[in-house]
Amino acid sequence: LMTESLWWRDGVIYQIYPRSFADSNGDGLGDLPGILSRLDYLEWLGVDALWLSPFYPSPDADFGYDISDHTAVDERYGTMDDFDALVEEAHRRGIRIILDLVLNHTSDAHPWFQESRSGRSTPKADWYIWRDTPNRWLSVFGGKAWTYDETRGQYYYHMFLKEQPDVNWRNPDLRRAQMDVVRFWLNRGVDGFRLDVFNVYFKDAEFRNNPPTFGRRPFEWQKHLYDCDRPEMIPLLKELRELLDSYPERYAVGETFLSTPEKAAKYCGKEMLHAAFNFDFSLRRFAPREFFEAIQRWERALGEENWPNYVLSNHDIPRAATRYAKGEDDARLKVVMTLLLTLRGTPYLYQGDEIGMRNLRMRRSEVMDPVGKRYHPIYPSRDAARAPMQWDDSPAAGFTSGTPWLRVHPDYIHRNVAAQKADSASMLTLTRRLIALRRQYPALRRGDFLPQRSLAPRGVMAYLRRTQAQTLFVALNFTKKESLVSLPEGIRRVVFSTSRQEDETLSGEAIRLLPYESVILGEG
Ligand code: NOJ
Repeated sequence: LMTESLWWRDGVIYQIYPRSFADSNGDGLGDLPGILSRLDYLEWLGVDALWLSPFYPSPDADFGYDISDHTAVDERYGTMDDFDALVEEAHRRGIRIILDLVLNHTSDAHPWFQESRSGRSTPKADWYIWRDTPNRWLSVFGGKAWTYDETRGQYYYHMFLKEQPDVNWRNPDLRRAQMDVVRFWLNRGVDGFRLDVFNVYFKDAEFRNNPPTFGRRPFEWQKHLYDCDRPEMIPLLKELRELLDSYPERYAVGETFLSTPEKAAKYCGKEMLHAAFNFDFSLRRFAPREFFEAIQRWERALGEENWPNYVLSNHDIPRAATRYAKGEDDARLKVVMTLLLTLRGTPYLYQGDEIGMRNLRMRRSEVMDPVGKRYHPIYPSRDAARAPMQWDDSPAAGFTSGTPWLRVHPDYIHRNVAAQKADSASMLTLTRRLIALRRQYPALRRGDFLPQRSLAPRGVMAYLRRTQAQTLFVALNFTKKESLVSLPEGIRRVVFSTSRQEDETLSGEAIRLLPYESVILGEG
């Protein structure tokens, strides 16, 4: 198995937030034909798969994560023909398609919910979670998790907004209908799925209250023992995996809600998910010690059986550039990007990270995200990471010919794909080069990850990536000072550097890294 190549293990996965990627018709919202028109770019960048955030019909209470039809394309994003064309064109280029499946809840506008709320004796009466009396569970997005419905005369449960009622996975008909959704997309040629908050599908059968604990916002004042991570999830994952395995090379990555590395790992395996997100890595401060700790904890949790993945940014968290870089200077972001793309584990890139897009700074009155609206300024609005993709320096950054749904970041004038393509020292050039190196060197894809703490001073992260046939040495200077790093035996050739000539052969026992310099060195 180790010699075969497997797209989701060996490749780089790129997340697209369709609303903000590329608009083909000037309505200010990105769409599927927009993505199609940028496939040349994505192929050029070298990514192996695209994860598409939701483009299904949605009232947009939670910007697409409140779905009113799971097997259709919202007309604002295009048509099913556009979708088929996108899959076909992507496949022609060797790029796989991963869809975002939101199966924990639907929109309250979904016909299933409309029927379920209409009365207690309809066939779908039990497809959602209804109770005469609510317990103390809370919504992640603020307030109680239960809302009273006048028509039905009962409360329904929603982990997120009241416009996002949770489905009842204990109902066999609902369960079959959900599996049909999965099958529908598999039959359309989709290669994999990202499962939105999969580990909250099941809630405690007895609706026990959660014990209290400490935290910042009310949701965190409860220990989520009973509304999260219930044992019923395991057999469901097995059923899902069997379905996926009845098609060739399909993949599922779960978004672990309230994740820890150990918890995420528990859901991975030959009979369960191929991968689960663990956001520990993306929460780390800019220091070698921090990242070493995150990597080793994740590798330990996953064990030999499972393959790691690493995420720096997504549509829910502040952008990596804003967390790690200083102002408009990309030096520190380049260190972190080199780390991400030289690790043992599938790298996930979020659209715009390859050009170092920054968070959009927003006035309170501009905020659209429901979380941002409720918790500003305690929790940053997620809109900040959802600003339109910066393609060029034309008005609206080449994202749309109309008025973008969300303001374009003002730095687009100099920070955009076109400008960075032409600049050999740009984030984009660096990202593309590292992706290419990952393709070229099996050690970068598959090699063991071996920390080399004794070779590097404080502030420098040094590790080997090694297969039986190949060894590479990576050294990342997290400091603004020059730093002397000892070279491992036989490692002399500069394969990659953010500051010096590549293909140079080093002489001596050590390399003097420039401030924030990243290098990959090889044998010979
Ligand atoms: C996680 C998604 O990434 C986020 O955007 C959404 O608000 C929640 N799940 C609810 O679907």
